[in-house]
Amino acid sequence: MNTFDLQGKHIVLGLTGGVACYKAAQLCRDLQREGATVQVVMTEAATHFITEVTMQALSGRPVFTSQWDARPDNNMAHIHLSREADAVLIAPCSADFIAKLAQGRADELLSLLCLARPLESTPLLLSPAMNREMWSHPATQRNLDQVAADGAVVLGVGTGDQACGETGDGRMLEPADIVTELIAHFQPKRLTGRKVLVTAGPTFEAIDPVRGITNHSSGKMGFAIARAAQEAGAEVLLIAGPVQLPTPHGVQRVDVVSAQDMMAATQQALPWATVLIATAAVADWRPASASQQKIKKDGSGEVPDLHFVENPDILKSAAQSARAQAGELYCVGFAAESQDLVANAQHKRARKGVPLLVGNIGPTAFGRDDNQLILVDAQGVTELPRASKLLLARQLVAELARRLDPLKAA
Ligand code: C5P
Repeated sequence: MNTFDLQGKHIVLGLTGGVACYKAAQLCRDLQREGATVQVVMTEAATHFITEVTMQALSGRPVFTSQWDARPDNNMAHIHLSREADAVLIAPCSADFIAKLAQGRADELLSLLCLARPLESTPLLLSPAMNREMWSHPATQRNLDQVAADGAVVLGVGTGDQACGETGDGRMLEPADIVTELIAHFQPKRLTGRKVLVTAGPTFEAIDPVRGITNHSSGKMGFAIARAAQEAGAEVLLIAGPVQLPTPHGVQRVDVVSAQDMMAATQQALPWATVLIATAAVADWRPASASQQKIKKDGSGEVPDLHFVENPDILKSAAQSARAQAGELYCVGFAAESQDLVANAQHKRARKGVPLLVGNIGPTAFGRDDNQLILVDAQGVTELPRASKLLLARQLVAELARRLDPLKAA
């Protein structure tokens, strides 16, 4: 789903030599779909892997390949390209190009414009792509440390099959992940140093091996919050009930099934966390004992005699923990209500013992990509009007960061 998060951004997309150049065509398209304009610059090596024709046709702009290109009025392509860019993104970025950047060399247009870019205002993001031996070579790792120290943002690499037939680290990230990294780069880093634990999705309480009790929670709000917290610079652990959603880029995920599983996973992670955001729709009750075998219908009309026990309250027990009481763990609860949202949210905030309770109307939120929220804390009620769940998650992160300010980042 496109969020148009790059609307109004002008990106210089630099291609250096590598088989992963074939993915740059998709990357160019994906950047545009998020609203960016793209100016492609290619090294001579890159033109051996993908043509300027392809990249011009996709980007809708002539491609630059030479510092001697006479098209700019002042004949200084390296200056005007780097001045109009909101970011320079090199993908794929070869081992050789990283070495050049590490030395500050500028003997062709792309390295020249990287060196000539205003350091403070024009970020440089590198998406490396190379053979696993080249990647792990001490020279490459040394150069990566150097370019990072000089202000470049070095994106990670993927692991898996390589064009050379070997398997290991060094594959370029997928275009969608690179776009996500770029979008995240433009988000304010409000949660740097925070360790955020998010519970999300429904739980599933088994009746027997084939049946169980669950609910309509899609997990989308919790996953959006995990993404927004990661974009804001936090380390994020997402504990997810059974949902069919992709893990947000850069987020650690633990999958669980039942409320008891979720409780155990949360308890294990809580000593690490400085923030808990409990969005999960945890089942209130579970069958007292799940049958080991499928309960059969025998035709007599008799129905199973199910007994229920209450599930542990994950949020409440976290909010009562010594770390939460000492201000080392900030707990945020969610309430999905069907009516009287403010009163119910205020009541739930008190009952759970959390400083911040976020309310939404369940039937108009479950499964949808948009939502509307109210935030209830000691100061009162703040409304976040209907918007996409990702936008609301970013607003919630901003609200959270304001409330966390007095606390020290761990
Ligand atoms: O008690 P209720 O389900 O109405 O409260 C909702 C809030 O409490 C949510 O933040 C939910 O994640 C959390 N919760 C929990 N463990 C439970 C029940 C709810 O963490 N067993």
